[in-house]
Amino acid sequence: MKILFFTGKGGVGKSTLSAAMAWQLSQQYRVLIVSLDPAHNLGDIFNMRLKDKKTRFTDSLYLKEIDLKQLTKAYLKKEIDVLSTSYRYLQVLNLDNYFSVLQYSPGIEEYALLTGIENTIRDEKDFDFIVFDTPPTGLTLRFLALPKITIHWIERLITIRQQILKKRYTIHRIRGPLSNSETVLDYDEQSDRVLTRLHDLHQTYEELNKKLQGPDTAISVVFNPDRLSLKESARLIDGLKDLQLPLRLLLDNKVTDENIKMAEEVEGCMKSMVHGIPLERVPLAKGIFDERTSTLYHIEKDITRHLR
Ligand SMILES: Nc1ncnc2c1ncn2[C@@H]1O[C@H](COP(=O)(O)OP(=O)(O)O)[C@@H](O)[C@H]1O
Ligand SMILES: [Mg+2]
Repeated sequence: MKILFFTGKGGVGKSTLSAAMAWQLSQQYRVLIVSLDPAHNLGDIFNMRLKDKKTRFTDSLYLKEIDLKQLTKAYLKKEIDVLSTSYRYLQVLNLDNYFSVLQYSPGIEEYALLTGIENTIRDEKDFDFIVFDTPPTGLTLRFLALPKITIHWIERLITIRQQILKKRYTIHRIRGPLSNSETVLDYDEQSDRVLTRLHDLHQTYEELNKKLQGPDTAISVVFNPDRLSLKESARLIDGLKDLQLPLRLLLDNKVTDENIKMAEEVEGCMKSMVHGIPLERVPLAKGIFDERTSTLYHIEKDITRHLR
């Protein structure tokens, strides 16, 4: 299964080109397209009302819009449940009360999005391609960075937890056997729930990171023939390099006879930033963007050849 991400500045055509890519690939493969942008327009592009559950468009193309609010809630609920089982004494604290505030914590939206991606990759193995239409650059880079950041944190937490367990063991040895009424805190690594949970999380994020950096993931950067979109693409490319994520295609979208000179200039700059990455030019289509016929996902040019 291959995973495709479309990134770029707002309005450059990420949703349009990810829809076009999904449609073109679905002529030959089984494809699921998922919108991660809180401001969804996938449904408008395919002229269908979409829900959080995947919806059939054709036998080989399914569509889904991720409900970020619901996902955030589910994510927080799960974490709160895990906390309450790992730290049983926390049950006296009613964590549900914090829920309404916690959902606005920095980073929660990014974790929720990442969970959405992770769940989709895990549950939808029947598809040959999963195409993710992403939100604007900042949020996208932040959630793509999360697995790596999380791995660093978890490794640190594992060390701290191991030190705690060692101290507990020392105390246990000094005190000697306890009477039945006393609570013994876990001190060996195998039976400690917190450590087990940390190891599980570590494994999950390692796998996800490996998947995102691996040969079956392809990130496309979409831009337009203008300087603002060039600047934003440069930031994106730097971010992807830092995170060692695989940029595989550049898409110069909305090219016309009038802006062709600028298109060449911008493409030249993009190519000098990344060597050997293929570039496709997509013309600005006129006339086909008709609401009644709704073929917004139809573009004439085959943009799939570098990502098959
Ligand atoms: N190749 C194209 N030709 C004509 N219009 C386009 C093309 N690509 C995108 N558009 C239009 O540009 C607008 C923004 O596109 P969209 O895909 O929603 O951008 P993004 O998802 O990057 O915010 C939409 O109105 C879309 O119909
Ligand atoms: Mg969009």
